[in-house]
Formats: sequence, C-alpha cells, structure tokens
Amino acid sequence: VLGTAGCADDPAGQTARVFRSDRPLPERFVVPLTTPPVKRPTARDGTATRYTVVQRPAQVEILPGVLTDVWGYDGLFPGPTLRARRGERVVVTHHNDLPVPTVVHLHGGHTPAASDGFPTDLVLPAGPAATSRTGHGGMPHGAGDVRRGTREHVYPGDQPAATLWYHDHRMDFTAPQVWRGLAGFHLVSDDVEDALPLPHGERDVPLMIMDRSFGADGELRYPSLDASLAGPPGVSADHTSGVLGDVLLVNGRPWPVLAVAAARYRLRLLNASNARRYDLALDPVPPQGPAFVQVASDGGLLAAPVAHDHVPLAPAERYEVLVDFGAYPVGTEVTLTNALGTGPTDAVMRFRVVRRAREDSTVPARLAAVPTLRPRRDAPRRTWRFARGRTGTGHWLINDALFDPARTDATVRLGDIEVWRFASDLHHPVHVHLAPFQVLSRGGRDPGAFDVGWKDTLDLRPGEHADVAVRFPAHPGRYLVHCHNLEHEDMGMMATFATVA
Ligand code: C2O
Ligand code: CU
Repeated sequence: VLGTAGCADDPAGQTARVFRSDRPLPERFVVPLTTPPVKRPTARDGTATRYTVVQRPAQVEILPGVLTDVWGYDGLFPGPTLRARRGERVVVTHHNDLPVPTVVHLHGGHTPAASDGFPTDLVLPAGPAATSRTGHGGMPHGAGDVRRGTREHVYPGDQPAATLWYHDHRMDFTAPQVWRGLAGFHLVSDDVEDALPLPHGERDVPLMIMDRSFGADGELRYPSLDASLAGPPGVSADHTSGVLGDVLLVNGRPWPVLAVAAARYRLRLLNASNARRYDLALDPVPPQGPAFVQVASDGGLLAAPVAHDHVPLAPAERYEVLVDFGAYPVGTEVTLTNALGTGPTDAVMRFRVVRRAREDSTVPARLAAVPTLRPRRDAPRRTWRFARGRTGTGHWLINDALFDPARTDATVRLGDIEVWRFASDLHHPVHVHLAPFQVLSRGGRDPGAFDVGWKDTLDLRPGEHADVAVRFPAHPGRYLVHCHNLEHEDMGMMATFATVA
C-alpha cells in the first residue's frame, strides 16, 4: 500500500497533487526525442485496411539505462502510430494479453457505437486463468458487450484530417491503465491537408506529453490502494483529485531534446497526461514573429491560422502549431517551457537548432473550410454540470449523479444541432465522444483565442460555464460525455447519451 508520503500540493494551482518519484530525476534535455513507429497493416483489401494490435506487458527503457514494466499496445510506450486517410475504412483487431480487462477508445473518432469502446464493453484477458479479475465489487458489467481475448474495432474514417489518439477506457480503471502505458496516436490525413504547403515528413512531429512517477527500482508508481498486479488498482482517496507525476515525458522519453533544422516545423501537441495541465511557451521567444501559429485543433484544421505566444493544454486536448526555428540562429537551444510547472516540471523538452535548411513550407492564409454550426432559436438545450460530490466521498459527479452504464442521461436526434452548456466547480477538461463541437460562448462572453475550430475537449475553469453547439451526423447508439481528468472519470464523472435516428 502506497501512502501519501511524498505528495505535496502543486504550488502552480493544479487541483491535483504531485506524486513524487523515489529516485533521482533524470537529467533534462539529454535523451533524444523519438517518435512512435508507424504501424504496418496486416492486410489491405478493397473494403478495408486491417491492423492487429496486441496489448501486452513489456519492459521498455524510459529512464536512461533502466527498464520499466509497462502495458503497451504491441508492447510499446507510447503505442504504434496508426495513419489513415479520410474515407479509408480501418479495422483494428485488438488482442488482450494483459492480466486485466481492457477497453479501447479512439479519442476524436467518428466511430460506430459498437467500436467506440463503451467502458463496460470489456475485452477479458485471453488466458482462462484471469477470470477472477474480470470484475470487482459487483459493478454492473453485465451492461456491456463483453468478449474474451479479442475485439475488432471498425473505424469508417469519415472525418477530416486530424490528430486523434487511442487509449484505454475501462470503467473505473482508465487512469491506472493509461498510466501504465495504454495510449497511442492515430493520425487522419486528407486531400485538403495534402494541398496545403505545411511542413511535412520529418518536420511534422507528433508530441505526446505526459507525466509519470517512478519507484526506486525504475517501475512506474501510481498511488493506488493496492499497487501490486494481483489486486485492482483503485485510487487512494487522497488522489481522487487527479494524479500528477514529477517526470515529464514526450513520446515516452523524459524531457527529451530534438535536433531541428532552422526551418518551420509542425508540432502536433497532445496532452496525454492523466490530470496535469500545461501552459507551453518558447524560451527564448523568437526574435521576430509569433512563437506558435496554430493550424489545427482537436477536430482538425482551422479555417485560418491563429498566432499565439503560449498554448494552454489540458488533458486530451490537441493543438497543432507551426514553430519557425528558422527565426533563430543556428546553435540556439529553444526550450518548450511550462508555466504551470515548478522546478523540473517548468519545462517539457528542448529543440536544438543544428543546421541551416531550405524552407519548403509557407503559412497559408486559408486552411480548410470549417462550416459554422448555427443552432436554431428553438434548438434543444442541455446542461451538464461537473462538480465534486459531498466532501469525503472522493466522487466526482455530472448533474449530481455518478456514472451508471445502465442509465441513459440524454437522447439526441442524429443531425440535430443542440446547445450544450458545460458548468464546472473546478478545472474540468470536458470531452464528448462521436463528434466535435464548436464553442459559442465561455463565461457569458465570446469564445477565447484557444477555443477556435472543432473541439472535442474543452477545459473549463473553476466556476465557469461554456455553451457549445454540437451535432452528431451519424451513428445511432450510446456514447459518453465525461471529464478527461482520468481520476475524475474513474471516480464517476461520466454520463451516457444515446443518439437516435
Ligand atoms: Cu479520451 Cu472518453 O476519452
Ligand atoms: Cu474533472
């Protein structure tokens, strides 16, 4: 049993607490950045591109010279990157060779319900020995479509180019299972994106940002009531606000460094942390021009680029930004800083500008056609109120209720534009499955500079409410709206909506 010793309130105002490592932290900005390998299809025929992913335990080098046990898609941390074209039907068969049930969700995918990864649609471990671990405490897992060993996920790909990611979504256990490594990129491209003169190839870099804590032996530490593999990894009451690690990882490497050419890069920023929020900037700031030019949000390309001098990043959000390293002299070390961190977490990674290079990209004035969702005056309206339950229960609620997979909290007609109000007591990154939304207002005012485009995750500030326009064009079934602070999610801050024709 791990206690709360070694925890401290994070002075940067995060609502969660830092869970400290039991070993010296690795030196920053020495480990080279790597990017996860792109997954090769197992088959391709006229109707689909097929992939097979095996979820399995593995030992990987995260800290230099140390092996760490992870649960990885294909044994990798992060998992392999899947790449798909718009309109390409992708079928991913997941095998569960882990000792626990799992659920896979494609975050940002416009996915049929049967493949979306409802939290009780478990895939039980392949081996028969594991049956005793399939449930706990009489949770109503019977409400789900439970399989043994394997499940096929069908992704029609009927959505524009975007940076998506896949991760575990098992009811009550998402936080510890993602912490152990179950997350990967899924990138969708299309003709619109191809026609733009954006940086590509080596200059298009996905960056999965996470925080973790490590034991003295180099193993991942999570503040569970029982951290051993033998028992269910429930979260200790002190950490129900969210678990923060003290080691920052990018693509599974601690505080890495990337050698870059003096040229423009496209960085696909993803916050895959359980609970940590970041506020990213560049140090030094470029001698001229903005630090970041945002070209895409969660749901894909913006209508036009937006300049920022910093980028806040809540769990599960994606911001795709252009950074012009050509604005710096060769030899400059450019640090990606984090204004919400303290001590070692005040920076995420570093870029080393190592050589001159030919610039083959430009910043287009127009990016993609983004139709505006205009709700009618009499559009259906709903409020989702995200707030903590009575002090001491450790529960997090939506509209005063805990998640119950057997209950439907709202029924939405496919094709209708609705207005949803998210209201919040503290910081909650609110996520909607199936289709992205557009922010209409925040705190009664116009949307902010970071609210542009198609969002699927919106970070609400304490006491704030936001109105969004949402439309689900296709796929009848049941889907989720939830807080993407994974500890809040596991402690009940999730609700079900049904889509009907
Ligand atoms: Cu990123 Cu419901 O998930
Ligand atoms: Cu929350």
